[in-house]
Amino acid sequence: MSETQNPLCSAQKACCKVEDPSLKTTQDFIDLEKSYGALNYDPLPVVPSSAEGCWIWDVEGNRYLDMMSAYSAVSHGHRHPKLLTALHNQLSKICVTSRAFYPCNLGRFLKKLCEVSGLDRALPMNTGAEAVETAIKGARRWGEEVKGIPKDKCEIIVNAGNFHGRTTTVISFSSEDEYRRGFGPLTPGFREIPFGNLEALEQAITPNTCAFLTEPMLGEGGIKFPPKGWMKGVSELCRQHKVLLISDEIQTGLGRTGKMFGMDHEEVKPDAILLGKALGGGIYPVSAMIGTEELMNVFNPGSHGSTFGGNHMACAIGLKALEVLEEEGLVERSHTLGEYLLKALREIRSPVISNIRGRGLWIGMEVNPDYCNARVACERLLTKGILSKETKETVIRIAPPLTITREEIDWGVNRIESVLSSLEEDFGF
Ligand SMILES: Cc1ncc(COP(=O)(O)O)c(C=O)c1O
Repeated sequence: MSETQNPLCSAQKACCKVEDPSLKTTQDFIDLEKSYGALNYDPLPVVPSSAEGCWIWDVEGNRYLDMMSAYSAVSHGHRHPKLLTALHNQLSKICVTSRAFYPCNLGRFLKKLCEVSGLDRALPMNTGAEAVETAIKGARRWGEEVKGIPKDKCEIIVNAGNFHGRTTTVISFSSEDEYRRGFGPLTPGFREIPFGNLEALEQAITPNTCAFLTEPMLGEGGIKFPPKGWMKGVSELCRQHKVLLISDEIQTGLGRTGKMFGMDHEEVKPDAILLGKALGGGIYPVSAMIGTEELMNVFNPGSHGSTFGGNHMACAIGLKALEVLEEEGLVERSHTLGEYLLKALREIRSPVISNIRGRGLWIGMEVNPDYCNARVACERLLTKGILSKETKETVIRIAPPLTITREEIDWGVNRIESVLSSLEEDFGF
């Protein structure tokens, strides 16, 4: 354990114990996973085994401040007590019956999704990529049946640098070669434009365009923000040309950027919102497409579905996740504490960081490549008790749970500052 990390209390030590005497060190766990798992990830060398609030403990008893929140899936913090209660209550009643019947809590969950988004109907799925797939299907069918685009001719416009998931259709329009290499034949029907460019959007629209699928701000693309006025402009262009505006809020939604939805920053109401990640309260995979009556009415029995989508557990947790956001003012908290965190990070003024940008508790720190890449910085942060992960080569993502306190932020900023000074010393010139 590094000298900077805090020891465990005995209760936490008991939690960290893993019931296999052959697994002792971090390396034992990593070796086992690497021996049997497909090698499609390159994780940081830490093995979490228990967590509470904003803190994670590993199998060796080291404590870390979670500044990454499972790519924003843990916005409510780890094991939020109200979500655990909802989970346990539901577990003791009924879990999965499928949509062959009417799950008793599905209606309440759908109603809440519609209330929160201001849209008309919702379709529950499990993962983010499934919500995106649902939207692509919905948009294409709307294109053919409502807009009158000829059969199989619908086009969807997307951004360069997008990230919407990993299914075959979704990677078909990724701009990352490694996401696509060897996975063809890919799905046609997508056009890519530069992010944040209204002129490019207008030029890309044809009579066959059914939708513009966009993140309001790029997440995996490097925590990037569009120019002011872009969202409003997009909304107007889409309306003018009868093109659906579909906002992928799987990462930006539910308070992450200091507003309920990313598009709220310019008071834009899209035709559909896609949610995932934090909708599962950091406990369970829950996603949804929520849309206008006209769009959602293209789905008829048999057109789409999922065995687990909208199951009792998902509904109980999804509903509670939305309620907790409101009850605990997590959206406002993200706004206020995000400003506090951004200011504190900017005040560090390290030459290792060339740019810091953020909205709410969603911050990207751009590492100056003359010093090191973001991976090296994240490995160094890990040794000082901060969990984060690079996005792209150069960006450190700082996205703690929205429940984080000022004291925890101060603790984290202090550690980040000391890591940046050590990087400056080791890689400076
Ligand atoms: C904006 C966005 N859309 C979709 C996804 C895919 O979600 P999932 O990994 O749950 O399929 C992600 C995941 O990072 C995302 O950030």
